[in-house]
Amino acid sequence: MVITAEIIKLELCDGKVFWQCSSNDLQSMKSLRSVERLFICVLNEPTKIFSRRDYRILQEILSKNKEKLQDAEKFWKLHHNLESEEIPPSKKLKLDNITFRVSCKVSGKLAKSYPSQIYVHINDERTVFGIPIFKKPLSQRKYIKHIGLRSTIAWAMAHYSNLKPGDVILDPMCGCATILMEAAHAWPNIHCIAADKNQLQLKKAQENAALIPNAKISLICSDVCDLPLKPSSVNAFVCDLPFGQNHSTVAEMKIIIPKIIETLNRVLTLNGNAVLLIGQNLKDFLLKEVENLNSRSQDSTSSLECVEALYLKLGETHAYMCVLRKENKATET
Ligand SMILES: C[S@@+](CC[C@H](N)C(=O)[O-])C[C@H]1O[C@@H](n2cnc3c(N)ncnc32)[C@H](O)[C@@H]1O
Repeated sequence: MVITAEIIKLELCDGKVFWQCSSNDLQSMKSLRSVERLFICVLNEPTKIFSRRDYRILQEILSKNKEKLQDAEKFWKLHHNLESEEIPPSKKLKLDNITFRVSCKVSGKLAKSYPSQIYVHINDERTVFGIPIFKKPLSQRKYIKHIGLRSTIAWAMAHYSNLKPGDVILDPMCGCATILMEAAHAWPNIHCIAADKNQLQLKKAQENAALIPNAKISLICSDVCDLPLKPSSVNAFVCDLPFGQNHSTVAEMKIIIPKIIETLNRVLTLNGNAVLLIGQNLKDFLLKEVENLNSRSQDSTSSLECVEALYLKLGETHAYMCVLRKENKATET
């Protein structure tokens, strides 16, 4: 699927990406996997207009931008049908007299009387008004019952695994196997191995796996340090490492990380990728361990290289997605 959108502005601190596209692109945008929600942008201006600290100014802004708002409304109506495919005709909205609620958050019975809403996001730099195109966030997946990691991040981890048909992908601390669900859904014809030492987590992983009927997913109850897998048997290794908060302490992680690096180096095939999600507090320790492994390795043919370390913010938690590759020493530049 090709999207002809042109990115016009990236606001990295707020995680917003602004782009221009044609309404024909909308159906394909619905398939974006690393996007939480899509909005029609009505306004994106510097916040200095709020210096009066009088929030009735919001109303003024809306009336000044009536045309933009009307355009957005037309766009919203045009694509409302995308969401209402499953709604019986008798329950479909009459689109000739639409009202929008302007909200921080409206819930309960009151919310049901408005078909859509306008989101207003004001920070020190920008004031952004947007209307969500789809009622449900794109990040809500029909094929995942138990979520152990944001689906958008899980998809991105599968993406950086560089999967090809026939590949074997392992998540040795899979939890509910969110990453493997995204991989199995988007990359058919791969074999997923979901391992965890906790039977309860594996049960959730099994229930998730049942939602993608054609997926090939094997479950293993095992400690990550003792995986019953042969050397060079997996093409991709993904792992959402405990950040040293809920599932383990930082001290425990410092013991386990060197063992995980050894394991991944052992089970990965040459040119295989490992994608590790790690808390900011442990990222340097992890990369140092990769260097340590290379320097003590007896293997003269391959080495483990960090290809990318991408910064992420998960709520209030700062994290990194580290992409490692097992490279052939002879082809290193
Ligand atoms: C951060 S959670 C992973 C969440 C996962 N990404 C998901 O989608 O649910 C970490 C997982 O590591 C598992 N774990 C912790 N220590 C382990 C070990 N030594 N061996 C295998 N699994 C382990 C925990 O049981 C937990 O399910």
